Amino acid sequence: MRMIDIIIKKRNAKPLTQDEFDFVAQGAAKGTVPDYQLSSFLMACFLNPLSPKETAMFTKAMAHSGGRLDFSKVTTLPKVDKHSTGGVGDGISLALAPLVACGGVAVPMMSGRGLGHTGGTLDKLESMKNFEVRVPVNLIYRQIKKLNVCMFGQTSDLAPADRKLYSLRDACGSVESRPLIVASILSKKYAEGVDSLLMDVKYGSGAFMQKLEDSRKLARALVSVAKQLGLKCRALITYMDQPLGRAIGNANEMFQAIKILQGSKEIAPDFYELLIEEAAAMLVISGKQKDIAKARALMEEKIENGEALAKLREMIKWQGASPDAVDRPERYFKNAPLTAIYQAPASGYVQHIDAKTAGMAAVLLGAGRNTMEDVIDYGAGIWLERKSGDTVKKGDTVAILYASDKKRLTQGLELFSKAVKIGKQKPAPYKIVKEIIK
Ligand code: URA
Repeated sequence: MRMIDIIIKKRNAKPLTQDEFDFVAQGAAKGTVPDYQLSSFLMACFLNPLSPKETAMFTKAMAHSGGRLDFSKVTTLPKVDKHSTGGVGDGISLALAPLVACGGVAVPMMSGRGLGHTGGTLDKLESMKNFEVRVPVNLIYRQIKKLNVCMFGQTSDLAPADRKLYSLRDACGSVESRPLIVASILSKKYAEGVDSLLMDVKYGSGAFMQKLEDSRKLARALVSVAKQLGLKCRALITYMDQPLGRAIGNANEMFQAIKILQGSKEIAPDFYELLIEEAAAMLVISGKQKDIAKARALMEEKIENGEALAKLREMIKWQGASPDAVDRPERYFKNAPLTAIYQAPASGYVQHIDAKTAGMAAVLLGAGRNTMEDVIDYGAGIWLERKSGDTVKKGDTVAILYASDKKRLTQGLELFSKAVKIGKQKPAPYKIVKEIIK
C-alpha cells in the first residue's frame, strides 16, 4: 500500500477502506508516513468529508494505533466517562467523576488541558499542590479497583495517531471538519476502555460550536459513530453562551466544585443542575439505573450524605495531594493577590455575560493559555457575584477579578467589562440542557 494512492483516492472523493485508514493511522503513530503526506491527506478529508461509515473506520484505526485500557481484570462494574466539547467555567468534571463513582459504576476519566478561552480539567486539578494527573497505567487500574474513580491525562500510548494528526490539523487548516473532530474525540475515548460515554456538546459563544444547529450535527455524529464502535452513548446539548457557575479559573473552579459537593448547591444553581443531569445520564447510559428521575435522586442523595465528598477526598489522597483540601478549600485554593471589582455601571438587570469574552478576560488575567507553552497562574480568575437575570443597583459588584500582576488585572478588567450587558428588561431564562440526543 502507498500513501500517495490513498491521498489521491480521497482527493477524488472515493471511499476508503479499513485497511487504508489503518495504514494512515499506523503511519502517523509510528512516524513512517511523512508530515507533508499526512497533512495532504487531512486536507483531502476536509474537502471531501468522510462518510459516517468511513468516520467509524478512521476512529477505529486511530484508536488501535496504540494500546487500549482493559479494566476487565480489575472491575466488573460498568465503565463510564464523559467528554465535554469545552467551555467557560465548565468545571463539572471535578465534581462529576467522584459523584458518579458513588453510583456503582467505575469512572476512568481521561481529560485534557485548557487552550484559549476554554479551561481544561487537568489544569484545574493541578491547582491542588502535588495532585498527579500523569498516572501510570498500572496505577490507573489499581485506583479503579479500589476507588472506582481516577482522573488522568492522555498517556503516550493511547491513540498516538490522533496526537500526531490533531497537531497537523492545527497547522494545515483542517481542524473544522466534523468527521475528523468526531474521529479525534472518539478514538481517545475508545482507547480509554470504557463501555459507555456521555457527550456534553455545548453551543453558544464560549463553545467549540457556536451555533445550535452545528452542535446538534456534531452530537448526532458523535452518538452514531460511538454506537458503531460498540459504545453506549448519549449526548446532552448544553448552553454555553454565558459562563457556567460562578467561577472562571483553576483554583476558583476547584473551590466551587468542592463547595457543591459539600452540599452548598445555592452557590451555583446552574452548575448544580448540570452536574445532576450529567451524573444521572451517565448512570442510565451505563445501564446501572433504568429511571432518570431515580438516578437524579440517587445522585442528590450521594451529595447530601457526604459520600461524593468522601470519594473526592480519597481520590485526592491517592493522587498525591492533601485530602484536607476538601474540608478546608479556602486554605488550599487561594485567589491571586491583586483584585479588581467590576461594578454595575447602571441599575437594572444583568441581561447577559458573554462566555467567550469572559473566558478571554480570564486568559488575560493569567488563568489560561494562548499557546500550550504558556504558564498558568492557578489563582487568577473571575468570580461572578451576579449572573444573568439578577437585579443590580449602580455600583453593585457584578464580578471580582483576580491576578498576580497589575497590568494583567487592568487588561482583564477592561475586556471583562465588554462581556457584561445590563439593561432595564429582565432577560428570558435559558435552559442549561437544551436537548438530548440518543
Ligand atoms: N477535541 C479533540 O479532541 N479533537 C478535535 O478534533 C476537536 C476537539
